[in-house]
Amino acid sequence: MNIKQILNSNQIGESVKLSGWVRTRRDSKAGLSFIEVNDGSCLKNIQVIAPNTLSNYESEILKLTIGSSIEVNGKIVESPAKGQSIEVNAENIKVFGYADSEEYPLQKKKTSLEFLRSIAHLRPRTNTFGAVARVRNELSLSTHKFFQDRGFVYLNSPIITASDCEGAGQMFNVTTFDLSHIPLTDNKEIDYSRDFFGKRTNLTVSGQLEAEAYALALSKVYTFGPTFRAENSNTTRHLAEFWMIEPEVAFNDLEANMDLAQDYIQTIIKSVLDNCSQDMQFFNERYDNTIVETLSHIVNSNFRRLSYTQAISILENCPKTFEFPVAFGLDLQSEHERYLTEEHFKEPVIVYNYPKEIKAFYMRLNDDDKTVAAMDVLLPKVGEIIGGSQREERLDVLSRRMQEINLSLEEYSWYLDLRRFGTAPHAGFGLGLERMVQFVTSLGNIRDVIPFPRYPEYCEF
Ligand code: 4AD
Ligand code: MG
Repeated sequence: MNIKQILNSNQIGESVKLSGWVRTRRDSKAGLSFIEVNDGSCLKNIQVIAPNTLSNYESEILKLTIGSSIEVNGKIVESPAKGQSIEVNAENIKVFGYADSEEYPLQKKKTSLEFLRSIAHLRPRTNTFGAVARVRNELSLSTHKFFQDRGFVYLNSPIITASDCEGAGQMFNVTTFDLSHIPLTDNKEIDYSRDFFGKRTNLTVSGQLEAEAYALALSKVYTFGPTFRAENSNTTRHLAEFWMIEPEVAFNDLEANMDLAQDYIQTIIKSVLDNCSQDMQFFNERYDNTIVETLSHIVNSNFRRLSYTQAISILENCPKTFEFPVAFGLDLQSEHERYLTEEHFKEPVIVYNYPKEIKAFYMRLNDDDKTVAAMDVLLPKVGEIIGGSQREERLDVLSRRMQEINLSLEEYSWYLDLRRFGTAPHAGFGLGLERMVQFVTSLGNIRDVIPFPRYPEYCEF
């Protein structure tokens, strides 16, 4: 049994075997040692009582340091100590490995999240990173449950692609060229025809275009995979490698897309509140004493929906001074987004119908000829959590739009085929998993909610 199961079972008198890592050891004069053990199955440790009658008490138990790994066989007994109902009386303890207390960096003293980032291979052994990992797992599990319960098909979109979904050019190239001898054409341009795939390829920035192909056959699909962006954003909300969930639904319009986004966010947050209550209590005590209340409120109230035009008017007329200018046609910066959701409405906000110039080519043109059926979902603290849209399903409008911004119709001909053959209205969105973990745990930096973060000038481990 793992420690979570033992603590939940409460089977006084039963024999158990458990394994884990020592969090603390305290020796009493009465010839007993109290060892707190954690195995990551839950936040709580279990207390193991080791009597000096154990054959290896002097030789091994008294040498156990923080971080040592052990296996314990013993009996569950009622605990006289406060804060726990049961403990384990050890009959036998096996030591797998010690951790030198001079060298092992995780001692009982407080450390900073910045320091822990530099030992990302050991930080999962701390309360904070154990809790982050379990909450992240719950968000992933409930994501699959949410979509599977509603008849969506899970789609594995490719990691290596030849197209730039967002058209923003922020891509990592994939090549097998010897970079000191790159083959050139007669015109002195890079000769991609001689590269591995015979063309220029990159790591995907989004699985959306492929998801559209499958939505226009299976009706409801979702992707859940890693995505990559070579944007030089050194912020607490950007990673170069992050995980995105992208549902795509045939026959949905923008409003149905907003309904789905709200339902999805509320459902996965509720799962975390229901199934990770110990971890959430920890974040509430240690990091933000309003987080559980905030999350409970979000689960039970409708998100505020307003058009981009309305958002601009609120921002233009608000008393706050912003670093970046506000005007119709300019993109919303994160300070604007945060003002709307954190200060003005104080709840999640969905902004829709953005000017076409600041959004991607695939978004559906509205009848005003100026805006597209885009939507961004904004949350307090993290800002944009979702970007999505109804897609342009009309072949002529899409082709015209692509030509306007110099996208090659030939390269995207497979994508245009989806409009040539049995086109249908459809819509979808992408949610960044790390921003969701960040929001739910209330940790301030996105680099602390993915096991091994990658960002500009940093790719350790
Ligand atoms: O708004 P984005 O760029 O939208 C798309 O990629 C669409 N193709 C999605 C779709 O319609 N299927 O990104 C979607 C979300 C953002 O709202 C944000 O949560 C997250 O992905 N995201 C990032 N998260 C961490 N680091 C980055 N560099 C991110 N860029 C986007
Ligand atoms: Mg976006």
